[in-house]
Amino acid sequence: MPGISAVRILSRCEALAACSEQRGALTRVYLSPEQRAASELVLGWMREAGMSARLDAVGNCVGRHEGERPGLPALLLGSHLDTVRDAGRYDGMLGVVAAIECVHALNEAVRRLPFAVEVIGFADEEGVRFDATLIGSRAVAGTLDPAVLDVADGAGVTLRQALKDFGLDPARVREAARRREESLAYAELHIEQGPVLEAEGLPAGVVTAINGATRLAVDVEGTAGHAGTVPMNLRRDALAAAAECALAVERRCAGVPDLVGTVGRIEALPGAVNVIPGKVRFTIDVRAAADAVRASAVDDLHGQMQAICARRGVAIGVRKTHDHGVTACAPWLMEQLDAAVAAEGLPVRRLPSGAGHDGMAMAELCDIGMLFVRCEKGVSHNPAEAITAADAETGTRVFLRFIENFEAARR
Ligand code: GLV
Ligand code: MN
Ligand code: MN
Repeated sequence: MPGISAVRILSRCEALAACSEQRGALTRVYLSPEQRAASELVLGWMREAGMSARLDAVGNCVGRHEGERPGLPALLLGSHLDTVRDAGRYDGMLGVVAAIECVHALNEAVRRLPFAVEVIGFADEEGVRFDATLIGSRAVAGTLDPAVLDVADGAGVTLRQALKDFGLDPARVREAARRREESLAYAELHIEQGPVLEAEGLPAGVVTAINGATRLAVDVEGTAGHAGTVPMNLRRDALAAAAECALAVERRCAGVPDLVGTVGRIEALPGAVNVIPGKVRFTIDVRAAADAVRASAVDDLHGQMQAICARRGVAIGVRKTHDHGVTACAPWLMEQLDAAVAAEGLPVRRLPSGAGHDGMAMAELCDIGMLFVRCEKGVSHNPAEAITAADAETGTRVFLRFIENFEAARR
């Protein structure tokens, strides 16, 4: 297909991976100097591909390729540019780079469609810096809760301040929101982050729905004390209590189909070898393919953790930092993605997404569709994340075919 270059796609993912706060590992959080560097690359590639490009009011990169005439409603494409800590180089980035590649191909073919195409590189999807997630896509969908501006990062910097430090005006965050009538649909290409496509020998699959997720921030408070002098039965050890809570999460979620629970971050204070931990903060992430299954697990965990902490004489506080139900992909977009897969001579495979995506937020603005591309051994949120050049190219070709044949009228 003219214009699609797997070499360019992969080398751009490499270039983005170099925008990292760590040497030899990839970590790029929201509103960081590394985000600025990545954004400059992305805005440049958007312009090279024939788009007008800008940073929006929350720091998303937005590129626009006009349709047959200026100002037409747009098919929105995108994914995220932030990463987890010690991340892979394709989670999010592949979707942004592949979408730019598709516009590049349209532009080279001097192809103007009966709608505009916009590519958005969302600035925060992972939610690593602040106790909030999908900030970029929620802002675009117009659903960002203004209270999030007062959430602070681990260093005590609020989102409000971080926006100012980045050169953005927190009072203007609402300007990132798009109008429904100008947004025809949102489509995202993403690595699968799971092993299903590889196991079935398929390069691409069409997503049916994104599993729901709840995130909790838990604070446990006991009493710090001397590790040598306080007998075991007189301790109020916040870390031992938190460890028991973590095992309760594992026990509650294990064995229930399509339910998963993770304690991904834990911090013990004061954090010295000879001090009984007095304060612990940890996170819980619970996901399920059915909202009722997730809600009942979260309820049970509240009860179990209260009981654990009461028995151990420590205090517990639990805050919900994210709660999102299952997000269905729109049948009319799944059909058009199926058709694009089939037109490339590939078997059509539909599958759900266990991972979260910007589509969860974008679904409040317009219908969403997603295309998954096979990744090696299903590994993701890990520096070993890998895809082949052939799959990057095939996925992007399918996506381009979807864009070229996109019919908003089938809504
Ligand atoms: C994002 O990758 C998430 O699923 O948390
Ligand atoms: Mn991710
Ligand atoms: Mn992702």
